[in-house]
Amino acid sequence: MTLRRILDLLRTGQPNETVTIQGWVRTKRELKEFSFVEMNDGSSMAGLQVVVNQALPDYANLVKKLNTGASAEISGVLVASQGKGQRIELQAASVTVYGEADAETYPLQKKRHSFEFLRSIAHLRARTNTMGAVFRVRNACAAAVHSFFQERGFLWMHTPLITASDAEGAGELFTVTTLDLKKPPLTEGKEIDFSQDFFGKRAYLTVSGQLEAEIMAMAFTNVYTFGPTFRAENSNTSRHLAEFWMIEPEMAFCDLLGNMELAEALLKHIFKHVLETCPEDMEFFNQRIDDSVLATADNIINSEFARITYTEAIALLEKADKTFEYPVSWGLDLQSEHERYLAEDYFKKPTIVTDYPAQIKAFYMRMNEDGKTVRAMDILAPKIGEIVGGSQREERLDFLQRRIQSMGIPEEELWWYLDLRRFGTVPHAGFGLGFERLVQFMTGMGNVRDVIPFPRTPLSADF
Ligand code: 4AD
Ligand code: MG
Repeated sequence: MTLRRILDLLRTGQPNETVTIQGWVRTKRELKEFSFVEMNDGSSMAGLQVVVNQALPDYANLVKKLNTGASAEISGVLVASQGKGQRIELQAASVTVYGEADAETYPLQKKRHSFEFLRSIAHLRARTNTMGAVFRVRNACAAAVHSFFQERGFLWMHTPLITASDAEGAGELFTVTTLDLKKPPLTEGKEIDFSQDFFGKRAYLTVSGQLEAEIMAMAFTNVYTFGPTFRAENSNTSRHLAEFWMIEPEMAFCDLLGNMELAEALLKHIFKHVLETCPEDMEFFNQRIDDSVLATADNIINSEFARITYTEAIALLEKADKTFEYPVSWGLDLQSEHERYLAEDYFKKPTIVTDYPAQIKAFYMRMNEDGKTVRAMDILAPKIGEIVGGSQREERLDFLQRRIQSMGIPEEELWWYLDLRRFGTVPHAGFGLGFERLVQFMTGMGNVRDVIPFPRTPLSADF
């Protein structure tokens, strides 16, 4: 028995080869003397057409079991296909049905289901064409992230998921506790006494691995982390998840320019890799989800990203002949409608916005000479808005201390972070690429919940 993946057979299988496949029935077409069964094992969008002939023992009973959703192992000989749409097909010699799927109650019927409905059956939706393509592309993106950094000598490091610090200072943290919620210990001031909690202080799920990545960059020069992060933002949008994956490189001896160049090179590399390794899936997205997907990919790979400062961006937005829901003025953060206007309508390509006002950015960003703006950069993508957020970090101890004080952050909590500025500090920079937003951008999928297998969002943590 030569067990083969269906992708491999579709690409290289030759007539007269004897093979075995395993997978799930996608469709069945019963004719008088034989039946066509399309089998899929997740390795490719296209399935393998199997011909089940009535000469097989117990034919009628067998075909009855081969409903959509059933699992089976099929052995036979490959033959050139007479039909349209496939080069080869499998002439079944033996069929073992592992698990049947009742035709009446199997939720994935052979019609188009809405993405909302599919989310409610996330344990089965991976078996659909669209989700199959999404998760193959997601896998290719992740592989491309690693090849990009490994080829450039970056050290892949792992940052903790449980932390006591709010790296972004946005207060969107999930608390991690083993205290008895019915009867938590209280301080004299009647607050919950976290000194009696598991870690002896209040702990959270991390919002970013950046601060720890900075520590490691001060030893290994170039590092990256790629892991899950958590934000208790109560925003029900098509771009926000409570649990999402982030790629965070951190580079010593690097300024904002080097940071922008690396981020742009990373995105180009990932798009190229996905086009090379998942051409059928990308073609599918272009045909069925968003007909600009391939043009966008081409645009990413072959053109330079636009670059503009925050101050210039505000001037453009103030001049725009478009009415925005949220106000635009210097000092206010850009809303997603503003980001999309810049990247989608104005520049029509990814746009790097730099030098934001200090007051709307995190404490660790390097202060510019003007004393008002910081060396921040966001990359805005058409249709999505922000997909990358990063900055050159404040490496000067006195500047950092002043910033921390002015923001009311207790200095003693960041003693180790300040130590990095005391011992061998260097200019350094890094960014965070939101992995799901990247996959959304790549595939044209409208909702971020449909590019992660098991989305976590407000009021939703099933599966
Ligand atoms: O801009 P953010 O908050 O930056 C940081 O966390 C920095 N510590 C990164 C760094 O410099 N090392 O988040 C980075 C990216 C965003 O641009 C966005 O793509 C994604 O993470 N992101 C989210 N993706 C999905 N759901 C959410 N709730 C997200 N919040 C941020
Ligand atoms: Mg951001």
